[in-house]
Amino acid sequence: MSFGLLLSTVRYEERRLLSELDQRGLHAVRLDPRNLSFGPKDTERFRGMTVLNREISSQRAALAAESLEAFGARPVNDASSTRVCGNKWSTYLRLKQCGIPTPTTLLAPSAEAGMKAIESLGYPAVVKPLSASWGNRVGLITDRHAADAVLEHCAAMPSAVARTVIVQEAIRPGAPDLRGIVVDGVCVGVISRSGGDWRNNVARGATVECIAPNEEIYGLCVRAAAAVGARIAGVDLVQGVNGGFMVLEVNSRVEFQGFEGATGVDVAARIVEACVSQVIDVKETI
Ligand SMILES: Nc1ncnc2c1ncn2[C@@H]1O[C@H](COP(=O)(O)OP(=O)(O)O)[C@@H](O)[C@H]1O
Ligand SMILES: [Mg+2]
Repeated sequence: MSFGLLLSTVRYEERRLLSELDQRGLHAVRLDPRNLSFGPKDTERFRGMTVLNREISSQRAALAAESLEAFGARPVNDASSTRVCGNKWSTYLRLKQCGIPTPTTLLAPSAEAGMKAIESLGYPAVVKPLSASWGNRVGLITDRHAADAVLEHCAAMPSAVARTVIVQEAIRPGAPDLRGIVVDGVCVGVISRSGGDWRNNVARGATVECIAPNEEIYGLCVRAAAAVGARIAGVDLVQGVNGGFMVLEVNSRVEFQGFEGATGVDVAARIVEACVSQVIDVKETI
């Protein structure tokens, strides 16, 4: 049974995963989605392969996962959850459908719709692209002039997808937020992140701290991962003024450097174990 690691960039996380695989004597075939064409010669190449998806680009990750499944491989996460997590609106819809608390969010396919959405939610409001990471282009709109400027820039983007944004209720912007990691239905830990700008992404300089296990938060993380169908998930949460937690988004190819440092949880080992158990499952059913 073969094992693949899908990636175009080797970061801290991928080095950790490769070393965990090595320790278990598992050889991972490295698959670079920039070089995969899925032609007739690949018909047998991927059949039965478990492929851990660590591709940095969400577009490439979703396309490769879909293609791998069509060619008989089992990507982790699967294609459907990779696609849903790669789109903040699709994620919002799944969270809503599953009754998971999440900030009120409106779709804005045009500047007009965006302005209506912002005015209906009130200031400050948050504008986000459908697909982005590390807090990129997540904007806090504090007044009508800022709204005009941001929506005008969005309207100038070159494709209908890029012009479409979501508008979201701002939940105590600048307050610490939370990141939980879920592997196969188990929340392995939660950190709080603070001190970014108002966006508390670690990539924006936020510092992280381990938080004590809490049933409400751990439960929400597990439910959010299940809502999008992700076996491996990084769940972002914020806390409202009345103390309740809300899920912002679910990441299907979670970064965990800060998380491992703060919690001491060996996330790479947990992920590799989940993938290995899948390889064993397949062996047993053949
Ligand atoms: N609605 C919101 N209210 C308050 N803070 C938010 C809101 N949306 C995003 N943020 C802040 O911005 C960060 C990035 O937003 P997020 O939706 O997680 O996008 P990204 O995929 O870029 O990480 C969050 O971790 C949080 O700190
Ligand atoms: Mg995030």
